[in-house]
Amino acid sequence: MVLLSGGGGHMRGQTFICLLPLLIGYSSQSCQKDCSKENQDVYGMDVTQIPVSLKAGVTEVFFVDSNITVIPKGAFATNPKLEKVAFINTPTVSVENGAFEGLVNLKHIEISNTPLTSLSVDVFQDLHNLEELLLKHNKIRSLEKGLFDGLKKLRELQLHINKIDTIEEGTFDDLENLRTLHLAKNDLSSVSSALFSKLHKLEVLRLYENQLTAIPDDILENLSNLKEIALQSNNITSISAILFPHKDKLNKILLDNNMLTELPPGIFVGFPLLKALTLNGNKLASLPPVLFGEMPKLTELSLSRNSLTSLPQGVFSPLKKLKKLDLSNNQLLTVSEESFEGLEKLTELNLQYNLIKSLKANTFEKLTSLTTLRLAHNILGTLPEDVFDPLTKLSKVYLNNNTWHCDCRMVPLFNWMKANPGKIKSMTPEICNQPEDLKGQEIMSLKEDQLICPVSPLTTIPSLTTTTTLQHNTVTQYSNTATQYSNTVT
Ligand SMILES: *[C@@H]1O[C@H](CO)[C@@H](O)[C@H](O)[C@H]1NC(C)=O
Ligand SMILES: *[C@@H]1O[C@H](CO)[C@@H](O)[C@H](O)[C@H]1NC(C)=O
Ligand SMILES: *[C@@H]1O[C@H](CO)[C@@H](O)[C@H](O)[C@H]1NC(C)=O
Ligand SMILES: *[C@@H]1O[C@H](CO)[C@@H](O)[C@H](O)[C@H]1NC(C)=O
Repeated sequence: MVLLSGGGGHMRGQTFICLLPLLIGYSSQSCQKDCSKENQDVYGMDVTQIPVSLKAGVTEVFFVDSNITVIPKGAFATNPKLEKVAFINTPTVSVENGAFEGLVNLKHIEISNTPLTSLSVDVFQDLHNLEELLLKHNKIRSLEKGLFDGLKKLRELQLHINKIDTIEEGTFDDLENLRTLHLAKNDLSSVSSALFSKLHKLEVLRLYENQLTAIPDDILENLSNLKEIALQSNNITSISAILFPHKDKLNKILLDNNMLTELPPGIFVGFPLLKALTLNGNKLASLPPVLFGEMPKLTELSLSRNSLTSLPQGVFSPLKKLKKLDLSNNQLLTVSEESFEGLEKLTELNLQYNLIKSLKANTFEKLTSLTTLRLAHNILGTLPEDVFDPLTKLSKVYLNNNTWHCDCRMVPLFNWMKANPGKIKSMTPEICNQPEDLKGQEIMSLKEDQLICPVSPLTTIPSLTTTTTLQHNTVTQYSNTATQYSNTVT
């Protein structure tokens, strides 16, 4: 990001707050170049060439929306004091070799939002003091070895939102001080093992929104300072158990929206600083019994939009600080007390869009901090008596779109709902799915004496769930009415 002016410039007694590079489609009319700081020259739309002489004392020059198609050789030869040069939203298609020659003090280059498709291999040579090279949002297709050679002070390299599908082996090898490498939103379908192996100081590596299908096992081997690895929205099908050899500094591992079908046992053990881990939107069908280690900073975890059918006992138990757990959009058939062991700080649990048919009364027993529980869009027929009793902080429950069985076995849930209407935040009302004569009715509109069970001697009461508490008087009361239903409550 380029910030032109901290406090705004003064002109004819007025203060101009200069936000131009922050505004897409900025028009130079709204902020003339006088708006810039003393050491900055800002050129706008009306400019078609790089001026030979700049304002005295200028160290930063910006071309915003300027009609500059070519950055010619020696473009700044007469201004060797420049520390920063930026071309933003210009129609630049070519940067000639030697464009930046003579700029021994240059620390920052930005060329962004241009139609530039390629950069010749010598274009940044001799820029030994360059610290920041921002080449985002162009149409660059490939990176050749040599392009970044000699940039030993470079700390930040932004190449995101381009069309890069090829990076030559060794391209980044000279960047011994690089901290951030941003390659997201390109067309990379593979990365080689050694591509980043010389980036010993690298802290942030972003490769999201490419088309990677695999990540070499040893690709992070030499990145002992890595804090963030962003791999989301690729097509990665598996990751190796040894992918993260350096765990102590990592605070973000982003793997969501890939095609992971399984995770190696213990892959997330030993990350003391991890505060963001994303796994949603994969194809995980199961989790290994030991997956996570203690993560004192991890407060949120989403496994939403996977294919989980069950959860190993205690799989989340090392995550003592977890506040939000999202398990929605899976194929969970049930969850139990063991699924949620150790989550005493959990405040939000999302189980929406699963295939949960029944729950035991003690399922949420240990989740004493829980405030929000989403159970909508499952196939629940009822819930056992007391299931919410341990949840003293519960204030939001979502129960809509289940296949509620409005018979005698629903009485405990019905009574809880009637007693706690303010806690039910369902998007649509809870609707009875059976019996036939109540199908389509809203549970909240019913009277308790409508919740009756079939009583024909020929019909045994269908066992809805093994854990449903039957009213003690349901089975004993028979009636021989034509409807074969009897009031369960005497
Ligand atoms: C930009 O400059 C070229 C010539 O270099 C000219 O043909 C074109 O019309 C100019 N475009 C605008 C929008 O001024
Ligand atoms: C890591 O660095 C060492 C020493 O420079 C080298 O031998 C090894 O091949 C590097 N790892 C990878 C994956 O390139
Ligand atoms: C990645 O997955 C998407 C969605 O499934 C698919 O359209 C695309 O072709 C895949 N790309 C590659 C490189 O496999
Ligand atoms: C959820 O239930 C409402 C009625 O309560 C219904 O209109 C809606 O179609 C249902 N949605 C789904 C996805 O089943």
